Amino acid sequence: MSMTSSQPPLAHTLASGVFEVSHPLIECHLTALRDVATQPLSFRSHVRRLATLLAYEATQDLAVEPVPVTTPLTKTTGGKLSQRIGLIPILRAGLGMVDPVLDLIPTAEVWHLGLYRDEDTAQPVEYYSKLPPGRPVDVALVVDPMLATGGSMLAALETLRRWGVGQVKLLSIIASEEGIRNVVSEFPEVQVYVCKIDPELNDVKYIVPGLGDAGDRIFNTLG
Ligand code: PRP
Ligand code: URA
Repeated sequence: MSMTSSQPPLAHTLASGVFEVSHPLIECHLTALRDVATQPLSFRSHVRRLATLLAYEATQDLAVEPVPVTTPLTKTTGGKLSQRIGLIPILRAGLGMVDPVLDLIPTAEVWHLGLYRDEDTAQPVEYYSKLPPGRPVDVALVVDPMLATGGSMLAALETLRRWGVGQVKLLSIIASEEGIRNVVSEFPEVQVYVCKIDPELNDVKYIVPGLGDAGDRIFNTLG
């Protein structure tokens, strides 16, 4: 069952497994996110909309099994997801993308990973992980609005590899070229879905042009 068979795909494939999703609505919401004048309430709502659009794109190949359904008129056959889906937000900023993806996949399990970037070294520091030993999900959707050096994502991917997850998809709103290269070189099997790939990192490893600190802008902790 495909809704897009006669339409061009939304995602522009950059390299095998890396998709920069091109869509007018993404362009508009992303512009609002980048704007330094956008306040937290509005910032959060643009994050939610972009997460929805990314998730739509990233979930096109999820497996579906047939189920019977009774409509007011007759019996027919529908479909339901046949795999265990895990939604893995990287704290804190990834939390901003959880609800919109859960709205689309209400049966997803949410497993939080706590990672922050040390401000002096830009290295990831893990502070929370409670993945249960054994019983990994079949498909993990890792959500984090920003992929800068890729260090936090690489740490998350190591954790998911140890858990034994079969298929991993990353959903980030903005990624740097360098960050994507770092992730793909260590985890070539992972699929990466981003709204935009920005060209560079500055001297403190922030994405340029970027949008600043996503966690601080979502949670209003810029001070
Ligand atoms: C941000 C962002 C990513 C990470 C990206 O989180 O949400 O997790 O930095 O940078 P990297 O690719 O160089 O690792 P941050 O460490 O600021 O934590 P926060 O979400 O709690 O604000
Ligand atoms: N984390 C952010 O929130 N933004 C960046 O540009 C880099 C890391």
